[in-house]
Amino acid sequence: VHHQPATTEERLAAFPLGARLSVEQLSEDPHPHLARLRAAEPVSWVPAIDGWLVTSHDLALAVMRDAARFTVEDPRFSTARVVGPSMLSLDGERHARNREPFAAAMRPGPVRERFAGLIEAEVAPLLDVLEPCGQGELRRQFAGPLAARVLAGALGLDPASAPELLALYDGIVAAVTAISRGERPSGEAAAAFSRLEAMLRAAPQHGEERSLLAVAGGCGLGAEEVVSNAAVLLFGGIETTEGMIANAVLALLLHPAALAAVRDSPGLAAAAIEESLRLEPAAAAVDRYAAASAQLGAASIRRGELVRVSLSAANRDPAVFARPERFELGRLRGRRHLAFAQGPHVCLGVHLARLEARLALRGLLERLPALRLDPDRPATVHGLIFRKPRALHVLWS
Ligand code: HEM
Repeated sequence: VHHQPATTEERLAAFPLGARLSVEQLSEDPHPHLARLRAAEPVSWVPAIDGWLVTSHDLALAVMRDAARFTVEDPRFSTARVVGPSMLSLDGERHARNREPFAAAMRPGPVRERFAGLIEAEVAPLLDVLEPCGQGELRRQFAGPLAARVLAGALGLDPASAPELLALYDGIVAAVTAISRGERPSGEAAAAFSRLEAMLRAAPQHGEERSLLAVAGGCGLGAEEVVSNAAVLLFGGIETTEGMIANAVLALLLHPAALAAVRDSPGLAAAAIEESLRLEPAAAAVDRYAAASAQLGAASIRRGELVRVSLSAANRDPAVFARPERFELGRLRGRRHLAFAQGPHVCLGVHLARLEARLALRGLLERLPALRLDPDRPATVHGLIFRKPRALHVLWS
């Protein structure tokens, strides 16, 4: 029989580790804190996030697979308030209706056919600029621009419009952040979204064969719906992919034996990328809201409460991954990590993201000989939801 804490004090007493956790701890080096939580309070009430935090692999899966009980449909979900309803903020049939038109184009085969050439065409010129320098900062000079240019191209925009897209995106992120803090977004943010909308609306008319929008528009989604979902593709695809590539490069440069193995057998790059995704998923958590009061593990969740799933924590659950803290290329169950979530909202861009990371890594290792971290400017991964190094300074010969 589960005890139902009636008061805030009882809740704090029932989940003492969660009660003491701070956003700062979750943002800088969260892993030791998450490990303690997973062992003692795998669903814990965490006042610092004003919600429940789920840290075990099995409960993380249970939440993400049960969209009827743990939904994304909540007015607090700030993205929807800026870009309009989209697959990211809907569940059930409306979710399927918004997601389905994009699904075929995002399967592995079509992704390779449509996007491998586009990605290679963007990797090469970025490396042309870097190669003669012997040193650089790979987040802003490589991973970020690559992610933005590829996504622009995928949506039928000119990759050269990436800087403008990023500026608009910053404005939109600022609005989403303001809303999630309970503040009112500025007029600038609304203007940024209108401009993005105009760019996207103009894009499919170029008759770009690759455009995801052109594909989706032909499947019965209204123009507004296409734009909202495209904005979500942008949201989902730029910041996360930048982080995914930066984190994978950092992980390999920190593990010389793994790096040597990947240099010897380039086929191991895929395993290295998965292991990096497991240890530092670029999107560290996903949020759901309880559609009704619910029991989850030892937690009595009330209707409407935030249930945040820590993908970082689930990915280091010793019940699934042996020696979870170690970077190992030979894991048999390595692909059971949850970096791309699971259930109906499983990442739509997963195959594009993996392809992009593989081609990025291959390009870096081929073109920048003896690539290594700059010992004078160490990089560490940080962030509460989106995790990546602030900067990734490297040297090569
Ligand atoms: C090409 C790049 C990418 C694109 C276009 C993309 C697109 C998307 C879209 C459209 C969704 C929403 C799916 C839905 O709600 O039905 C999604 C979900 C998600 N994506 Fe991606 N994504 C990309 C890369 C990444 C990367 C690199 C990561 C992390 C390493 C990531 C992690 C996630 C996660 C965790 C979700 C689930 C969100 C939730 O359940 O609330 N994505 N992605």
